[in-house]
Amino acid sequence: MAKIIAVSNQKGGVGKTTTCVSLGANIALQKKKVLIIDLDSQANLTMAVGMDPDDIELAIPDLIDPEEIDNSISIQKVIQKTNLENLDILPSDVRLAATEQGIVSIEGYEWLLANAIKPIQNEYDFVLIDCPPALSPLTLIALTAADMVLVPVQTEYYAARGLERLLETIAAVQKHLNSSLTYYLVGTIYDRRNRISRDVLSQLYITFEGNIFETVIGIDNQIRESAAAGEPIPVYSPKSRSNLEYEQLALEVIHLLK
Ligand SMILES: Nc1ncnc2c1ncn2[C@@H]1O[C@H](COP(=O)(O)OP(=O)(O)O)[C@@H](O)[C@H]1O
Ligand SMILES: [Mg+2]
Repeated sequence: MAKIIAVSNQKGGVGKTTTCVSLGANIALQKKKVLIIDLDSQANLTMAVGMDPDDIELAIPDLIDPEEIDNSISIQKVIQKTNLENLDILPSDVRLAATEQGIVSIEGYEWLLANAIKPIQNEYDFVLIDCPPALSPLTLIALTAADMVLVPVQTEYYAARGLERLLETIAAVQKHLNSSLTYYLVGTIYDRRNRISRDVLSQLYITFEGNIFETVIGIDNQIRESAAAGEPIPVYSPKSRSNLEYEQLALEVIHLLK
């Protein structure tokens, strides 16, 4: 059965999408079958693997939105291969914004994603879900489906702000929907030369001991360029520092969830 990881933080720009594609690609390079799911209507993850969300025929709303579901469409038809072996994607498109408004009135909507991916859970080793920047219904369906929440935290002064609300949400999901859910933080966009960044990082390691990965992802322009090029970092720049860090993180994740 695939291990399911929801990459979540309600703050935007902290490295969720970057972590989802870079970690997913590096787990795939360790010869594991990986599915990444774009659960953001902005479709940045979809673009990060070189797909144009405007050209996609089927996307995540076709699987979870009762207004869009066509029972003749199986999840296998919505999943696309990427240029990287062992890395597949469930793409997103703009309809997902309407999906979010539509599903909340459904009793038990929290299970929509968990149920949608059940048919393929045996075909993958890892499923990574890129959540939108909000503690919204879409985030809730991701947390309900997940074994672990991976929380990218940008190592800057206000980073820890807002983490409390995310942890409360995780606790509520554990209590009411998914008792086996765990969480792990990872420091991202880390500027080693900046004293405040270093202080924030050491504080995170004290506060979240046992719930934070050893690997820290440093600032690296190559990763910005790889997003613009629509190529995952191990394809765009395999020897870049950030790719080596995401490879380290992949090894940690595989070890933790094996
Ligand atoms: N380690 C990094 N170094 C430099 N830029 C980064 C790094 N990680 C992410 N970025 C850039 O920061 C921006 C926000 O990252 P993104 O992954 O889209 O965040 P989120 O999905 O949380 O909104 C993007 O332009 C991305 O390319
Ligand atoms: Mg994003």
